[in-house]
Amino acid sequence: MLEDRMVYLRGDFVPWSDAKVHLMSHSVGRGSAIFEVLSFHDTVHGPAVFRLDEHMDRLLASAALLGMELPMSREEFHRAVLETVRRNGLREGFIKIICFYSQVAFDIFPPQRMLDASIFAVDPAQDLKGMHFPFEKGTTACIPKWRKLDPETVPVEAKAAANYLNGIMAKEEARKRGFEEAIMLDTQGFIAEGGTESIFLVKDGRLMTPALGTVLKSISRKSVLEVARVMGIETVEGRLRPELFFTSEEIFFSGTPIKVLPVRQIEERVLDKVPGPVTKKLFEAMRDIVSGKDERFKAWLFPVS
Ligand SMILES: Cc1ncc(COP(=O)(O)O)c(C=O)c1O
Repeated sequence: MLEDRMVYLRGDFVPWSDAKVHLMSHSVGRGSAIFEVLSFHDTVHGPAVFRLDEHMDRLLASAALLGMELPMSREEFHRAVLETVRRNGLREGFIKIICFYSQVAFDIFPPQRMLDASIFAVDPAQDLKGMHFPFEKGTTACIPKWRKLDPETVPVEAKAAANYLNGIMAKEEARKRGFEEAIMLDTQGFIAEGGTESIFLVKDGRLMTPALGTVLKSISRKSVLEVARVMGIETVEGRLRPELFFTSEEIFFSGTPIKVLPVRQIEERVLDKVPGPVTKKLFEAMRDIVSGKDERFKAWLFPVS
């Protein structure tokens, strides 16, 4: 149960129920928190965190893009993440790092420059009932009326809590219309991404995904592209028109909790064969990588002990 978990908070470990901030804190009032969600896996060599180095890079980049100061070095975060998993005795699950302004603020300007840091580790099977992504079944998606945040308005590459109102609105629309997920277009009308997932399409055997610039620098997106290239699959990163949703052979989401999740229906289009062959190959490759069975990618796994 979540209540049994120990949380890293400002250099200490505290019980789950003690990881609190004041309701008037700047981060509650304005959404001024940056965060990371990582996965860890029960590999053949013991529990290991997937691409911890990449997540650290993105956390540092989020702080830099928003002019925020992190309270610890990259190495200290790295150690604290591994220690949080160890303390909770978990073998498989998710980690969330949240860096936030805890001080009370009426003003829009944060009262502190230095963020506070917290780290959570959970096992979805024990702690998060209902967090389950059946690969074979796939998912459904709509194209919502809400567009992906424009990079001219806020740095969309920063993983900031406030940016997620965008994904929340898109997903709310999906749910109201009877879909599970939403795939947003950008303000120019090109395919962008899901609320918390990147999007891939397969057309004529080529793997396509929107270019960076309007989308989050997703670590799963980067991993899927790298794996595809190693497998000899041609990859294209570009400005993709939504017409591709109706002509591509396969569509799938990628993201930390799901890695690869096929889309079986988008708007009124029901895809023929789900999961499609390229999606399946990439799903299996990612499964072997995270379980430590593919030695070529062992540098992507950071042992917990
Ligand atoms: C907007 C958005 N796109 C894509 C992703 C996938 O990123 P990652 O693979 O790093 O989890 C996320 C993850 O939360 C996200 O929030």
